[in-house]
Amino acid sequence: MLSLSEYHKMFTEHLDKYTISAVPENLYAPVHYILSLGGKRIRPILTLVSTDIFSGSPAKALDAALAGEVFHNFSLVHDDIMDSADLRRGNITVHKKWDSSTGILSGDVMLILAYQIFENYEPDIFVPMASLFSKTAIRVCEGQQLDIDFETRKEISLEEYLLMITCKTAELIGAAMKMGAIIADASLEQQEKIYDFGKNLGIAFQLQDDYLDCYGNENDFGKKIGGDIIEKKKTFLYLKTLELVSKEVKSNLISLYNSPHKDNQKKIILVKEIYNDCNIENEVVLEIKKYTDIAFKILDSLDLPKEKHEFLHNFGDSLMKRKI
Ligand code: IPE
Ligand code: IPE
Ligand code: MG
Ligand code: MG
Ligand code: MG
Repeated sequence: MLSLSEYHKMFTEHLDKYTISAVPENLYAPVHYILSLGGKRIRPILTLVSTDIFSGSPAKALDAALAGEVFHNFSLVHDDIMDSADLRRGNITVHKKWDSSTGILSGDVMLILAYQIFENYEPDIFVPMASLFSKTAIRVCEGQQLDIDFETRKEISLEEYLLMITCKTAELIGAAMKMGAIIADASLEQQEKIYDFGKNLGIAFQLQDDYLDCYGNENDFGKKIGGDIIEKKKTFLYLKTLELVSKEVKSNLISLYNSPHKDNQKKIILVKEIYNDCNIENEVVLEIKKYTDIAFKILDSLDLPKEKHEFLHNFGDSLMKRKI
């Protein structure tokens, strides 16, 4: 196994070599822009890691990792339009720098580019990978639609929330790991287990994203803090608070959260006061731990050498502590 920073370097060197047309400029400049803003590169790193876990060659997984990251970046460009977000990775979002039409089309071309990258694989790998990728991409769309639908609903069950984040976020993280297993020619059982491991880490990852959206630091997180509150997102923080507070506070929070406020910053402060009163930070930490532990249980059921087992365990632990 390499270190996480070595996988990161290996991937970014591959990304740097990836050539995309320059014209029409307004189609491709946003593609270059969003891909050059960095980000954690968690999904491609996990594809390389997973290939190594099952004793495959990470070099062979570079294109699958690239396809996954290009797809992820497409989803971010469209997500920022849907979420009216101004800031991404500490920089102005594509649709703000250009406009929404440009963001829509540049996102579309990235989705197609992601599929095109898979054409570099022979049919024995291309076929299962394209099938996994299509299934995952459809699930991301389903999750994104649920996320938007929930904005205009006041109460959502935690079960519905879990389905939404599983679709929009967790399944892609699971798929990133399954791709590595496919490339390494792992057994179907191993493929499913690593997928489930990644999916549960992905659920924990989105819970942490919800948490950082409210309690993170803008410079580290790279997104506007409080964006979910302003967009009326039905996050774990909001839904769990509704469960914990008195009837009276619950109805106050529902009306505060779901109606426009003349001062957005004030609204964020008021909502956070209610969250703080029921110690929501603690609840999120417990929920993140719950899904990370489920992931670790799945990991334990995989027959792996100690070093590989520890690598994935440490990775899961490090995700729980992330601030970016
Ligand atoms: C952001 O993903 C979207 C979510 C699924 C929460 P990341 O947090 O992986 O974003 P980057 O790629 O590191 O910027
Ligand atoms: C991310 O959900 C899901 C996808 C991009 C598919 P969010 O809307 O929470 O992601 P961020 O917080 O904007 O990165
Ligand atoms: Mg968003
Ligand atoms: Mg969103
Ligand atoms: Mg978010």
